[in-house]
Amino acid sequence: MRVGEERLLGPVVGLGTWNTFGADAASATDVVGAALDSGVRVFDSSPMYRGAEASLGRALHGRREGAIVATKIWTRSVEEGREQYARQVEWFGRVEVEQIHNLVAWREQLKWLERERAEGRIDRLGVTHYAAGAFDEVATALRTRRFDVVQLPYNPHERTVERELLPLAAELGVAVIVMRPLGEGALVRHPPSEDDLAPLRAFGIETWAQALLKWVLSDERVDVAIPATSRPERAAENARAGRPPWFGPDERALVVDLAA
Ligand SMILES: NC(=O)c1ccc[n+]([C@@H]2O[C@H](COP(=O)([O-])OP(=O)(O)OC[C@H]3O[C@@H](n4cnc5c(N)ncnc54)[C@H](OP(=O)(O)O)[C@@H]3O)[C@@H](O)[C@H]2O)c1
Repeated sequence: MRVGEERLLGPVVGLGTWNTFGADAASATDVVGAALDSGVRVFDSSPMYRGAEASLGRALHGRREGAIVATKIWTRSVEEGREQYARQVEWFGRVEVEQIHNLVAWREQLKWLERERAEGRIDRLGVTHYAAGAFDEVATALRTRRFDVVQLPYNPHERTVERELLPLAAELGVAVIVMRPLGEGALVRHPPSEDDLAPLRAFGIETWAQALLKWVLSDERVDVAIPATSRPERAAENARAGRPPWFGPDERALVVDLAA
């Protein structure tokens, strides 16, 4: 059974906010509005993304119900971590998924975050890392069984997580959020031709970005892909990739070939 069906409404397309929102609340409101109108529910952010959390908070104003805010704690200091959380509560009301960003001081931050989860103020705790060199430590963290969610990079050019972390997450019942599903934009810069994409049309694929997102979500161990965009029409386009039918092995292999 896919973990996300009971935990994070997966398999679904969410929305990332790194490098696209900054402190520009007006543009964030347009992108978040288009995403919500298209059925997007999961919004990922972090104190690292400059003004993105504040912009997301304003963008969700009046439309908060049903949205899942997945943000992060990113600091070595427990005191500063608590301050980050307090600001998030001001912006979002509450945090559904609180992730420890890049494993920073994860043992120390986890202690107080577990109390917040036990008292019902946070729904799920997660841990994230973007670098393969840190994946052994991500595995160590997951094996404590104290995390509900893990956020990792996964796309046809970055498949290291297939070796250990995706199987481990499935075994432990940990939900998987995928960062960088479009390779930070590098994978969509030179899209294949219309003819190349023709075999994927029956799967609802209109664009190369959608093919890449469906490639990620068709892995049954994945719950949420969180592409970032600064353009409302792309938020809607990306969201449409989060619907069945899912790719089988042949379609996934084709996407890998086209991305090569
Ligand atoms: N990268 C990391 O190391 C990292 C680390 C931790 C967490 N995360 C989380 O994961 C999220 C996603 O990762 P990411 O932002 O690094 O990269 P990504 O989502 O793989 O790629 C984002 C880029 O793709 C472009 N794009 C989006 N939709 C498109 C479409 N339909 N057609 C063409 N181009 C499209 C965007 O440009 P436009 O704005 O022009 O659309 C943007 O430049 C982050 O925002 C953040 O929330 C990332």
